[in-house]
Amino acid sequence: MYVGIDIGGSKMLIGLANADGKLLKTLKLPTPLDGHSAEHILEYRIKELLGDKKLKAIGIAAPGPIDFANGVILSPPNMPWHNLPITNQLHTRFKVPVVLENDADAAGLAEALEGAGKGSRYLLYVTISTGIGTGLVAGGQIVHGASDPEGGHIVIDPKGPQCGCGGQGHFEAIVSGRAIERRFGRPAYQIKDTATWDIIARDMAVGLSGLIAITAPDKVVLGGGVSVHYNRFKKPLAKYLEHYGSRLYPMPPVVPAKRVERAALDGALILARRAK
Ligand code: BGC
Repeated sequence: MYVGIDIGGSKMLIGLANADGKLLKTLKLPTPLDGHSAEHILEYRIKELLGDKKLKAIGIAAPGPIDFANGVILSPPNMPWHNLPITNQLHTRFKVPVVLENDADAAGLAEALEGAGKGSRYLLYVTISTGIGTGLVAGGQIVHGASDPEGGHIVIDPKGPQCGCGGQGHFEAIVSGRAIERRFGRPAYQIKDTATWDIIARDMAVGLSGLIAITAPDKVVLGGGVSVHYNRFKKPLAKYLEHYGSRLYPMPPVVPAKRVERAALDGALILARRAK
């Protein structure tokens, strides 16, 4: 059996899959404010999900920044957790390989292999949720640099608000689900008027056109809670991407994710099945 864990700002998902990748059980839990209690809850719940089945590996998708060498969740901008050695903790408990990956990278991997990015050779995945995260997947592999690329933290307005990471005017501080709610006084799902979506789509296009110019993807998949409203911003987004985007190469297709809710969990499970 393989266990996948998707750690989000408000909820954690645990999934149990067999060797063929078939998801057998899932569990949704509120994310505790204290990271160490999260570790204990996860241990307990994984044990419960497994019953007497044999565990082979665990994959975890979590918001960055992450210390990849040591498998530590450092201090995500939208969560009060600090320096959580989750990989060691779960490894000590279950004695199996434990892989920790950035949530957007994991979700991008799942979308590239099984979702809206299927067939893409160089996929840029952008999750627009509580925060904004990015993942690059080339030839079925996640591409890291010295750390993992954090496209939510590029500057799109030098005079813009402060980001949760401490920087100013970041993509995440202007277009994430949390930023949208702060700017317009209501969450994205309650925004129905075209004028507001036009502004959101404009700012989204500024961030996306920069990311596209740098990463040269053949496809862009948008995930996260805000992307669920794709039909509300699809038209203005296309208009602004054409306006702001580089004219040097054709704009790649920008499409919504196939499994918004499940992508990071599926990615964590793929990584668990690949773990050695
Ligand atoms: C983090 C990213 C993460 C994104 C979505 C951002 O605040 O920096 O690592 O992918 O939120 O959870």
